[in-house]
Amino acid sequence: MDRPGTSQQSVEKIDKVEMYELREHVPYHPEVTRTSKSYDEESAVQYKSSWESAWMAICQLVNLLHHMQVAIVVFCIWNFALTSESNGVITNLQLHIVFAGTGYQLFLVEAILTIHRHNSWSFQLSADGKRIVHGSLQLVGSVFVIAGTFLALAETDMQINTAHGICGVIALAFSIISLISGIVALFSSKVRLMIKSGPVKILHISVGIFAVSMGLITLVIGFNTDFFRTDREGLATCMMVFVLMTLIYIMIQPIIDVVSTTRKTL
Ligand code: HEM
Repeated sequence: MDRPGTSQQSVEKIDKVEMYELREHVPYHPEVTRTSKSYDEESAVQYKSSWESAWMAICQLVNLLHHMQVAIVVFCIWNFALTSESNGVITNLQLHIVFAGTGYQLFLVEAILTIHRHNSWSFQLSADGKRIVHGSLQLVGSVFVIAGTFLALAETDMQINTAHGICGVIALAFSIISLISGIVALFSSKVRLMIKSGPVKILHISVGIFAVSMGLITLVIGFNTDFFRTDREGLATCMMVFVLMTLIYIMIQPIIDVVSTTRKTL
């Protein structure tokens, strides 16, 4: 465009300003309309292709369905525990079910999901933000599972005779190691000169995966006891399937992480 009395540079500037003004007034949604990855100079944003955005949305939907599954299981645990005694009494056994069940199925599962790439409520957090939420959930979950397991052990006079009990105690031991290794991993990433973060991270992820797997397997065995199954066969099977589905889903990302961290460390 030739304008009298203006240099080539100022013409370019005017063109740019006009383009920006135009963009402000046009309801333009690049992330929806673009078909290939592109870079917007104005906002310095790298837009995803439509296929990538659609895939992200599907992954987040699957993630959301798993959160719903977690909520359903936790609701059923509480409902069972609070109504299992006909006179409405809450004993150590009922509290055991509430605390241990909520600790593993809600807090520790959500602690793992916090760092999941497609987690619907935390994917937009910064790495440090995710670490804070992950650590807090792990802390609360650990308190719940310690309380829940000891309530059961108090009920059985510290006797462990069942597969449910053995798995529960192993899960508790590893949950505590996972919490401690998590604290060390957090500080090792901040104070890199003193502790190498790679091996601590691998230890924390591996112990964490094992602890939560054992916790959820204990939960499945708990749902399979006559104490829960009697009069609610269908619900018991449904709960077992839901917990196993959650277990498979939450394990995928940590296993990928542990493999990639091991590769980087070696
Ligand atoms: C993941 C969570 C759970 C953990 C870590 C856990 C752990 C334990 C432990 C350590 C014991 C004592 C040892 C033994 O009985 O051998 C126990 C007992 C028991 N748990 Fe659990 N448990 C969990 C969830 C559940 C659930 C969801 C139910 C039922 C729906 C349940 C029902 C029972 C029963 C009936 C006993 C036997 C109590 C007795 O003999 O007086 N538990 N549990």
